[in-house]
Amino acid sequence: MAQAFYRKYRPKKLEDVLGQEANISILKNAAKNSRLGQAYVFYGPRGTGKTTTARLLAKLLNCEKRYADPEFAKLGEPCNECRECKQIDEQNSFDVTEIDAASNRGIDEIRNLKENIVTSPTTAKYKVYIIDEAHMLTGAAFNALLKTLEEPPQHAVIVLATTEYEKLPPTITSRAQRFAFKKLTKIDIVKKLSEEAKAEKIKIDEPALELIAAVAEGSVRDAESLLDQISSLQKNIDLAAVERITGRTGIAKIHDLVQSIIKKDLKDSLARVSELNDEGYNLVVFTKDLIHYLRKVLAIKIDPALGTTFEKELTRDEIANMKKIAEGTDIIFLAKFISSLIRAYSEMRYSPFAIVPLEIMLVENLS
Ligand SMILES: Nc1ncnc2c1ncn2[C@@H]1O[C@H](COP(=O)(O)OP(=O)(O)O)[C@@H](O)[C@H]1O
Ligand SMILES: [Mg+2]
Ligand SMILES: [Zn+2]
Repeated sequence: MAQAFYRKYRPKKLEDVLGQEANISILKNAAKNSRLGQAYVFYGPRGTGKTTTARLLAKLLNCEKRYADPEFAKLGEPCNECRECKQIDEQNSFDVTEIDAASNRGIDEIRNLKENIVTSPTTAKYKVYIIDEAHMLTGAAFNALLKTLEEPPQHAVIVLATTEYEKLPPTITSRAQRFAFKKLTKIDIVKKLSEEAKAEKIKIDEPALELIAAVAEGSVRDAESLLDQISSLQKNIDLAAVERITGRTGIAKIHDLVQSIIKKDLKDSLARVSELNDEGYNLVVFTKDLIHYLRKVLAIKIDPALGTTFEKELTRDEIANMKKIAEGTDIIFLAKFISSLIRAYSEMRYSPFAIVPLEIMLVENLS
């Protein structure tokens, strides 16, 4: 079987990690000055680069070329060619251990870690332990880890990765350098996906890429898996294909409906909703997207300069369209409409006929 996109295209250099500029520049500088720490917590939503960065850190710590060539070390990047770098990439380094705290809540794993961490590394300079899903560790496992974090052996570095920072005890987090990972913008995800599509000889147009990125909600891994999945069905991908497979609509359909809404054209609005329903789109998700869209229109209406703050998530065309919509409506109507839409949304989620609360809401607001 072919290697999954998200593994094949895992960034091999700090420079290739998108959307986490602050974290990356701190790590790069620390590497350049040989001042990497011994305990880190990487936290944030899934698919944003935590495991990737932890492995990059392991490579920075152990890359042979960095030790042999001071000029190269100044780059603050791993070489990806020496034995240590390669072994880490292939996940078969004796000295870099990935622990999944979710399995068995890490009890045996932390016990093993405590036993092994004291002995010197086999071939590398540092032993690196990457503890994934760290929030799943039991209280006892955290306690056991705490002593090690307080005084780690000189040759050891521990990275905790988690999607749920609040579940880590402060005694643990206060002893580590903490790095927040953020969801990626639609623009960054589209950029990465289009490079992958090119490399894989997949033909896919911009609106299709944008919808995949929107569906992924900031997770590069989710976006890559979706592209992977769709491209295994067809090598020529357009917006309609992505819409069909994900059950999500592109922003153009939302825009069209919003245009009828601001014209208070009830008949046309109802017709559009009914068409979406007949075509099998998920109306609950559609309504959520609609709320987000209108919320941005409202922001632009209040202050057109806010348009630029959406430049990360939206294309220029989309922002221009939103501005036009904003010009054609007023703040009071929009605010009232959004608040009824939110009420309809919560009713829709639990209704066996999701379309009804949406229709009623349109009737109440547009007639
Ligand atoms: N910030 C990012 N920049 C580029 N690609 C990323 C980024 N974050 C995630 N990816 C992609 O998603 C895959 C999974 O990322 P990973 O680091 O395992 O996410 P996490 O550990 O945060 O859940 C990577 O192999 C890579 O292809
Ligand atoms: Mg991970
Ligand atoms: Zn190397």
